[in-house]
Amino acid sequence: MKVLVATEKPFAKAAIDGIRSIVEGAGATLALLEKYDNVEALYAAVADADALIVRSDKVTKEVIAHAKQLKVVVRAGAGYDNLDLAACTERGIIAMNTPGQNSNAVAELALGMMVFMARNEFHAGTGSELKGKTLGIHAYGNVGRLVANIAKGFGMHIIAFDPFVTAEKMAEEGVEAVATVEELYSKSNYVSLHIPATEQTKKSINYDLLNRMPKGGCLVNTARKEVIHEEDMVRLLTDREDLKYVTDIAAGNQAELNEKFGLRVFATPKKMGAETAEANINAGLAAATQSIGYLKDGIDKFRVN
Ligand code: 3PG
Repeated sequence: MKVLVATEKPFAKAAIDGIRSIVEGAGATLALLEKYDNVEALYAAVADADALIVRSDKVTKEVIAHAKQLKVVVRAGAGYDNLDLAACTERGIIAMNTPGQNSNAVAELALGMMVFMARNEFHAGTGSELKGKTLGIHAYGNVGRLVANIAKGFGMHIIAFDPFVTAEKMAEEGVEAVATVEELYSKSNYVSLHIPATEQTKKSINYDLLNRMPKGGCLVNTARKEVIHEEDMVRLLTDREDLKYVTDIAAGNQAELNEKFGLRVFATPKKMGAETAEANINAGLAAATQSIGYLKDGIDKFRVN
């Protein structure tokens, strides 16, 4: 049995040590393909793998076609928009994610980004405080809930929109539910995005929605770049000189945004929300456990296809 970890953005060493111990402890072999820069390397490495563990690495139908023995692919992380689920299903390959395992790292980064923007990206000059501001959580899942919890410590007022979570549940956690996404944006000084990239959500964060934000509003994106309507973002930041955008996933037109809007926009150089040793260990070990659990015992908890 061979488990391949294919990560363009490698796990921390401590995570790999833990993965190795789980895989080898189960009598399987661990293969590593890290920092690869061409897809041919992935095609070759996956050819005889029984399980594949990835992060944001794209598992396309071509990758699946090369994976002659593959039985399970685990996305070590939450968003599985990088997996071609139809191709997996067609071949009878189980696809899973590891929900919640890297959420705290992403949530901490979201709050850090808010402080960074409130303080003029750490340039000289008068900034503002988070205390007393309204934070809108767009999707109250694992990350959204943690963002809310940390933000309470800053003295923020938390509201959230999520059609899949009841107002009662949010109220129990000190969060006010709003009925519509439009209301969320209209009331929030900061909006923290936690929606997945799906056919329904792609480009859904558009001019109309963002233009509802109060004066001085800031959008914080630790989710996916695909959910932003990028052309609208340029138009919006041009029309609304008070608004800001900070993202952990550089836009397709990030160079244009940086050039036109200076300190009102910021993108991390490389997606780093889940880049902590703790998140790597949590997600990596969960992915290894789930891979072995499926290969040995057919356990498919967290299956997404
Ligand atoms: C996720 O969906 O879990 C996060 O976006 C983390 O992605 P990464 O593993 O590529 O850092």
